[in-house]
Amino acid sequence: MTRDPARRDEACGCPRLRAIVSRERRQLLPEREYPADPWRLVERRSMPAYRPQTETLFSTANGYLGIRATPEEGAPVHERGTYLNGFHETWPIPYAEEAHGFPRLGQTMLAVPDGTLLKLYVDDEPFELANARLLAFERVLDFRRGTLDRELHFETPDGRRLCLRSSRFASMDDRHLACIEYEVRMVRGTASVVVSSELVVPSEQPRSDGVDPRRTSEVGDPALAPTHHRTRGRRILMNLETRSSHLRMACAMDHVVEADGPLEVEEAECARDRGRVVFHADLAEGQRLRIVKLLAYHYSAEADAGELRFRTHRTLDRALRHGVEVLRGRHRARIDAYWRLADVEVVGDAEVQQALRFNLYQLLQACGRCEGHGVPAKGLTGLGYQGHYFWDTEIHVVPFLTYVLPHTARSLLDLRHRQLPLARLRAREVGERGALFPWRTINGEESSAYYAASTAQYHIDADVVYAADRYVALTGDVEFLSHGFVEIAVETARMWAGLGFYSPRKGGRFCINGVTGPDEYNTVVNNNAYTNLMARENLRIAVRLVDSLRVRAPEAFDRLVGATGLDVAELEEWTRAADRMYVPWDEEAGVHLQDDDFLDRELWDFDGSPKSAYPLLLHFHPLVIYRHQVVKQADLVLATFLLPDAFDREEKRRIFDYYDPLTTGDSSLSGCIQSIMAAELGYREQAYLYFTDALVMDLGDIGGNVRDGLHVAALGGTWMAVVHGFAGLRDRDGVLRFRPDLPDGWDRLRFRLAPKGGVLEVEMQPGQTIYRLLEGEALEIRHDDERVVLDARNPSRVVAASARKPK
Ligand code: BGC
Repeated sequence: MTRDPARRDEACGCPRLRAIVSRERRQLLPEREYPADPWRLVERRSMPAYRPQTETLFSTANGYLGIRATPEEGAPVHERGTYLNGFHETWPIPYAEEAHGFPRLGQTMLAVPDGTLLKLYVDDEPFELANARLLAFERVLDFRRGTLDRELHFETPDGRRLCLRSSRFASMDDRHLACIEYEVRMVRGTASVVVSSELVVPSEQPRSDGVDPRRTSEVGDPALAPTHHRTRGRRILMNLETRSSHLRMACAMDHVVEADGPLEVEEAECARDRGRVVFHADLAEGQRLRIVKLLAYHYSAEADAGELRFRTHRTLDRALRHGVEVLRGRHRARIDAYWRLADVEVVGDAEVQQALRFNLYQLLQACGRCEGHGVPAKGLTGLGYQGHYFWDTEIHVVPFLTYVLPHTARSLLDLRHRQLPLARLRAREVGERGALFPWRTINGEESSAYYAASTAQYHIDADVVYAADRYVALTGDVEFLSHGFVEIAVETARMWAGLGFYSPRKGGRFCINGVTGPDEYNTVVNNNAYTNLMARENLRIAVRLVDSLRVRAPEAFDRLVGATGLDVAELEEWTRAADRMYVPWDEEAGVHLQDDDFLDRELWDFDGSPKSAYPLLLHFHPLVIYRHQVVKQADLVLATFLLPDAFDREEKRRIFDYYDPLTTGDSSLSGCIQSIMAAELGYREQAYLYFTDALVMDLGDIGGNVRDGLHVAALGGTWMAVVHGFAGLRDRDGVLRFRPDLPDGWDRLRFRLAPKGGVLEVEMQPGQTIYRLLEGEALEIRHDDERVVLDARNPSRVVAASARKPK
């Protein structure tokens, strides 16, 4: 990933870029122990120094169930964690000073009973990974098989040798199921081998460290109360219940065991918060004990404990009937199908290739089977941001899903539709009409205590509508229009129409005051340009959708009127507000303003800010930050990407040139967007550096908080930086327009997109790009400005790269 240092240095205008180039290594993990491999993340030595991070990086998840990569033997551990998407506890938010409309309840995803435990005893001596004499060790997260595999050899103090193998996965086929295969083999000598397979209720939930607001917060212990347990053969089942959110769950484990030597299975024992089944085999040299441990989890707010037990038993019964080979095969088939569309192949840089596939695999793990739930900012890999869903989903994840996993995109948008009743209530709470989606949530209610960097981010409404509009245009799923989308568009347009006003002091333009844009370092500002432009888009989309529904589907239109009380006069109100939307601009500086007062603030002293001062949010009182020209994450620059027609090229350049040097990139959402716009503007070196920033956000622990979970927005953002950045894809009107520019040093970049049910492959090589229609109806695309038609007779076209304009 290292490139020409002279050219890199030249590119370094802004603090983030300086930080990127000054970092010696792009990868956190040393190459000797973690070698580059195109389809696997490999750990060749057990490395305690990286334990907090590798527990996250090697997680297994399927979008519903996630398990941190803690060892089967139970120790050593930084933070144990098995999570179910959306399974949370609520708690009263303590305010030192109350105000009207503050959210009352916080929400925190909970760690649920840990079923990974398979404790090993050799002649009754516990095997302790941290102290064992290891002869060989390898742990592999395999992106193609979808498994976390470990193989180690160790020697007992008296010279006997054993080999341990384990392989686990959270099934992509049955999302309630996880499976662990655990094998002990005597390599030298004989031994009595005991494995205690356990299911343990967490005795306490992870706590906030009191310093980093992004970490989890207090839910009070015990948040999860066991209500029932039972054993049946080698199976143990538990029911549990949260105290305040009134969610009920059931979890269970069962086993298939075989041994070459005599095998004894002790009767399963279970207490309130801990159950275990013990297996005992006397193994001679060369003999094995093999355990397949099956885990099932179900939860619900409606179903009672008995019903959840029923579901959990069914999951395990079916898994036992199929057997592990079938389970693995079905899991694998889902993963194969994913890679067929999702893979991005880079030839010419092995580290980039590995990191890209790691990110894409983690995206699958974050949302592959999240149906009915959202995508937590950290996926299911840790409790950072408390398991909350943010705008990250719509702006950084849904774009990828729209092209690669459209069903999942639809399910996430459907979730917003289901949240609409709560969003209506929330709008009333903050004195608005229509609906206001929560800035951060699990259950659909706003759950952030700090309004300046949450409730004030009204742009969430427009982000949802923007993502939904693109989804419909690119998938052709018009059914979603009348089943949810129009209603969302109407209620959000109403919110904007009520929030803003025509300001006489701004020439009667429509102004929106007292909001926070994406940049959380400038809060509660007037006329944040991103917000106003996205609100304008939201209003126009609402008008377009309602108009077309009225003409094309009168019945659906009547239903909409019934559901929302829509008065057609509102359309005029929205059109007027959109047409008269105020977009701040500074004549003297010749640049758009991020908000009305942005240029009046004092410049941040970047030269006087050492690397240790970042992220600023951990080192400065918010007010210090707020009174300076310093930007946390792409804000106006993001607007130039999302709304390319709102700016001409020169305006985009001015915006990038002005705001990029002020952007700290303290949010992981930023680098990918900066990369895309740098690529568009011909700033090739910056584009590449920002791309690597997003690419190794997790593998390089760029934010220093990977221990708390992955940065899912950056995972999606990496794909965007490749497809929208290097391939230059813009698709606003549903037409795919490419401006490919292959990074130096890459021999090939190849990816696939599935617009409207077809499959298009794009292969960029130095000097040319090949477009192949692999499936679907004729497709008309643009390469630079050239029209390219692909159809059954001419499914593939080679187009020469045009000379790039110098910057
Ligand atoms: C960013 C937000 C983002 C959140 C969750 C914050 O640091 O500023 O834009 O939604 O993280 O990823």
